[in-house]
Amino acid sequence: GHPGWPARLGPLRVAGGLVTVRSLKLRDAAAWSRLRLRDRAHLEPWEPTGESPWDMRHHISVWPGLYRSLRAEARKGHMIPMAIELDGRFCGQITVGNIVRGALRSAWIGYWVEKDVNGLGVATAAVALGLDHCFGPVGLHRVEATVRPENLASRAVLQNVGFREEGLLQRYLDVHGRFRDHLLVAMTVEEVPGSVSERLVRSGRATWS
Ligand code: ACO
Repeated sequence: GHPGWPARLGPLRVAGGLVTVRSLKLRDAAAWSRLRLRDRAHLEPWEPTGESPWDMRHHISVWPGLYRSLRAEARKGHMIPMAIELDGRFCGQITVGNIVRGALRSAWIGYWVEKDVNGLGVATAAVALGLDHCFGPVGLHRVEATVRPENLASRAVLQNVGFREEGLLQRYLDVHGRFRDHLLVAMTVEEVPGSVSERLVRSGRATWS
């Protein structure tokens, strides 16, 4: 296998409950499909434009194929596709993608969390755990993220875990039907004395289980 895959990270306790991050499973199909279909309005403005209609792309029958292709990428060391669990229930995803080794040792991170538990610190905790995984077992030097300037909730998450803003990428990504500007944020391992989770705990945003 590749360093950092499969993975089980956390837990960290936040206002919403106990947050764990773990490798995706074939049996996430029902929860994934249910949340993705139900929360379309909450998710679609911020996510890459798909090639087929939302309902079709998130039908339960799509999961096995999607899961297998993500797992294949993970086994090659290109990606770390994980589920976010709140009190043991699937509530979102966090993905480390475009893992590049060699002299770059870099990747991007992205995430979503179901609407019902928003604002309770779940994404913040998951991203902190994901970053510590990247800088620890995975052995990366830099992790970046891109976010639409209008996505204030996600920008707050990125700021809370300590990302630094690097610039504006104009018409960067096809999101919700058009190429949209994105802010580029990044963190390198030198910026993390100790761990991101530790910093979150010290700031009072989370506690150790
Ligand atoms: N304006 C300003 N701040 C806001 C707003 C708003 N309208 N709404 C929420 N926030 C803040 C909250 O106050 C909180 O910050 P605080 O802790 O400093 O008060 C923060 O946003 C949310 O933090 P969490 O509770 O940790 O995050 P949550 O679990 O609610 O998940 C997320 C946030 C992932 C953005 C969720 O809303 C979601 O899935 N949205 C749709 C998909 C999406 O946007 N994904 C991110 C794409 S960008 C990327 O992946 C890098």
